Amino acid sequence: MAEPKRYYVTTPIYYVNAAPHIGHAYTTLACDVLARFKRLDGFDVKFLTGTDEHGQKVERSARDAGMDPKAFTDKVSQNFRDLAGFMNFTNDDFIRTTEARHRASCQHLWERLIERDQIYLGSYAGWYSVRDEAFHTESELTDGPDGKKLAPSGAEVTWVEEPSYFFRLSAWEKPLLELYEKNPGFILPRSRRNEVISFVKGGLQDLSVSRTSVRWGIPVPGDDDHIVYVWVDALINYITAAGYPDTDSHDFKTFWPADLHMVGKDILRFHAVYWPAFLMAAGVEPPRRVFAHGWWTNEGQKVSKSLGNVIDPIRLVETYGLDQVRYFLLREVPFGNDGDFSHKAMVHRMNGDLANDLGNLAQRVLSMIAKNCDNAVPEAGALEEDDEALLAAARGLHDEVAPRIDEQAFHEVLETIWAVIRAANAYVDRQAPWVLRKSDPARMRTVLYTLAEAIRHIAILLQPFMPDAMARMLDQLAVAEEKRGFASLGPDHALTAGTPLPKPQGVFPRISDEET
Ligand code: MSP
Repeated sequence: MAEPKRYYVTTPIYYVNAAPHIGHAYTTLACDVLARFKRLDGFDVKFLTGTDEHGQKVERSARDAGMDPKAFTDKVSQNFRDLAGFMNFTNDDFIRTTEARHRASCQHLWERLIERDQIYLGSYAGWYSVRDEAFHTESELTDGPDGKKLAPSGAEVTWVEEPSYFFRLSAWEKPLLELYEKNPGFILPRSRRNEVISFVKGGLQDLSVSRTSVRWGIPVPGDDDHIVYVWVDALINYITAAGYPDTDSHDFKTFWPADLHMVGKDILRFHAVYWPAFLMAAGVEPPRRVFAHGWWTNEGQKVSKSLGNVIDPIRLVETYGLDQVRYFLLREVPFGNDGDFSHKAMVHRMNGDLANDLGNLAQRVLSMIAKNCDNAVPEAGALEEDDEALLAAARGLHDEVAPRIDEQAFHEVLETIWAVIRAANAYVDRQAPWVLRKSDPARMRTVLYTLAEAIRHIAILLQPFMPDAMARMLDQLAVAEEKRGFASLGPDHALTAGTPLPKPQGVFPRISDEET
């Protein structure tokens, strides 16, 4: 039987200790593009994001703000919801770990682990990093400049000694390695997969999964002195939102296992090692893929609060425009690699790819149609080889980019579409419709029709990346709302000659380097 067309994609849930930054916007943007693409491709999509609200780090931030943790998390969580609206993200759900549905789900999973003898009571004596909310072994640490011990992330660690429940992670080494072996696409990119495999091969220790010195969290069922370790609590959000513990629910049956957990490279181990181990230990199927993307630097520098160079996504959008920022972030670096944000690179993409290549193509073609074809889709005559070639390239795009979307290779999707945009521009220059206007108006109309039909394909396929700008472009081609899905690609839904067109307007203005 064919796989049902359903798709479940998740972002990490964000700590509510600070305002949203570029990292948050980037991860969610990547998921938004995937969710939009799949919806346009006829899939039943569930796109989840939310906030991670428990644990010592949030408890501390609330205290520093002089607020009760619940009031604090209500306030900061709202900033993440607002960002989603501002960035035009289309998440279907927004989960908060302080919600009742999540507490029930988390405690239920814990009880399954107890029943299956996967958790035992012991005591923890070791290092803990509050910033990473992670336990570290001595061998992972380095010495900081002032003699303080530092986690691999550079975060400070403190010595902790307390009673703790442990998860028998050590027993899951072999099943995890089998999972990676059987599913080569479970961890992407490949280089990250290799890192995880060597980490697991290096041997796994049982994992401390409860805290007694922290109060802000979900109580361990039957032992209120302990609260569930925030990473266990947080990871469970992905099944909570799919209806867990009701594994017979429509949502759970439709959407679990998730197709993709999108995460940053710093939190891969939690998702690719601990999470599938918890799930397998509880008898729940692991997700299908974890993709670890890279990190952004700002004008060549690591971003940090102390350097004061944190990139604020809202400012970026106010400066350059929403779709421009969405495009840049997914075009500038091969997805999975680290990337550098610079004003120069941004201007270069805006003027080169957007204004010159795509904007100009649409503007040239639409204004020639407006002037010379009575503001209506022109009639095409017999097609020549050059016309057929451009149409074939545009019509073949979907089948070229869909497999790349399935590998999260956004930059390749965009490069592939841009190859057709450039081919269309070369076709305009070759065919010179402004010359044909006098010498052979029927041929001019055929050329303009061919171009309009190519632009229709390009705009439909670019909607997931630049939803507003492409909606405007499709409006200008008078493509009806219900004809913007991928099912409308191809010759069967081609533009109809004589359809009246609105007055063309530029979609991508140029930006001068002095602006901003
Ligand atoms: N709460 C955990 C995730 C729990 S998921 C079950 C967490 N939260 S976070 O708020 O710190 O997450 C931040 C996300 O942003 C991570 O995916 C991280 O990789 C990403 N980034 C943080 N800084 C970044 C950049 N400079 N560039 C790109 N992404 C970055 O971790």
